[in-house]
Amino acid sequence: MSYLEATNTLYKEAALTPDVGLCCTTNPIWELPGLKIPRIMQEMNYGCGSTVHARDLTNNPKMLYVGVGGGMELLQFSYFNRQKGGVIGVDVVDEMLEASRKNFKEAEEQNDWFKSEFVELKKGDAMNLPVEDNSIDVAAQNCLFNIFKADDLKKAIAEMYRVLKPHGRLVMSDPTCEQPMNDALRNDDRLRALCLSGSLPIAEYVKALTDAGFGTIEIRARKPYRILDPKNYPTDELIYIESIEVAAIKDPMPADGPCVFTGKAAIYYGDEDYFDDKAGHVLLKNQPLAICDKTAGALQALGRDDIYFSESTFHYDGGGCC
Ligand SMILES: C[S@@+](CC[C@H](N)C(=O)[O-])C[C@H]1O[C@@H](n2cnc3c(N)ncnc32)[C@H](O)[C@@H]1O
Repeated sequence: MSYLEATNTLYKEAALTPDVGLCCTTNPIWELPGLKIPRIMQEMNYGCGSTVHARDLTNNPKMLYVGVGGGMELLQFSYFNRQKGGVIGVDVVDEMLEASRKNFKEAEEQNDWFKSEFVELKKGDAMNLPVEDNSIDVAAQNCLFNIFKADDLKKAIAEMYRVLKPHGRLVMSDPTCEQPMNDALRNDDRLRALCLSGSLPIAEYVKALTDAGFGTIEIRARKPYRILDPKNYPTDELIYIESIEVAAIKDPMPADGPCVFTGKAAIYYGDEDYFDDKAGHVLLKNQPLAICDKTAGALQALGRDDIYFSESTFHYDGGGCC
């Protein structure tokens, strides 16, 4: 059985019998005014962060969600556009599609504003999406892409890139790990399917996105996720896994490379009212300016003693310049 077949089997089981501990998110459940999340959807929350960010969801975006799980995030996305077929949900596991369909019916009963038809469910594979080119404003996946091995990950990201409109955004949450993992972990299909042994270091994860052409990357959150300990897993050392929330925006690739925002800021504290690097960055005195890592490097290379650079917080929430 291939690791993809093992993944399908695992999520078939998780569709038929909800497994509260399957993925571990410390995120609070978004319950916005008038939005009720049915209990079954909460029990089938198999994500590792949130892909629902209100600032992505203005102007009735056409949305795509790959790997639907119990449907919770699709319901949350629907809240923001409330239109027939406003959210396309794609999943490769029939039982998961069926379970989410049932959960949307329950959501209808608990939410006056919601109709199941707001979500168009489609059977399909992340590596071959049944979606037209350049048709989506906001695409999302939560805790799926980390399962994929390198070639499949490349295909899945390329598919998201293909279906997004120019400047559309891919919003994701996945586990990441900065420590090396041994082959026993990497090649354990079940641990991989459980989102425990496929994760990449953040820099590699970001490179997979920029290699596909995404010109802007935002790392929005970085949180503790899991521990793989030698008593319970085939590892000699303790392995610490985090989860991140990331947006990859289909902006054109700048000539000097992608803009990757990791939560860095520059603060000018010199004698003038502001500092202008004549390359598009104006730092007002004593006001932090969010900058991408590329700009941080360029400003640092100036060697000035009147600009402070903060470390990456991995909590970028917009603004600034690149
Ligand atoms: C870890 S669960 C995450 C579910 C959901 N995103 C959440 O946050 O609760 C992974 C989901 O991806 C689906 N899936 C697995 N392999 C897939 C593939 N190749 N293409 C599309 N969906 C897939 C599974 O059926 C499951 O619904």
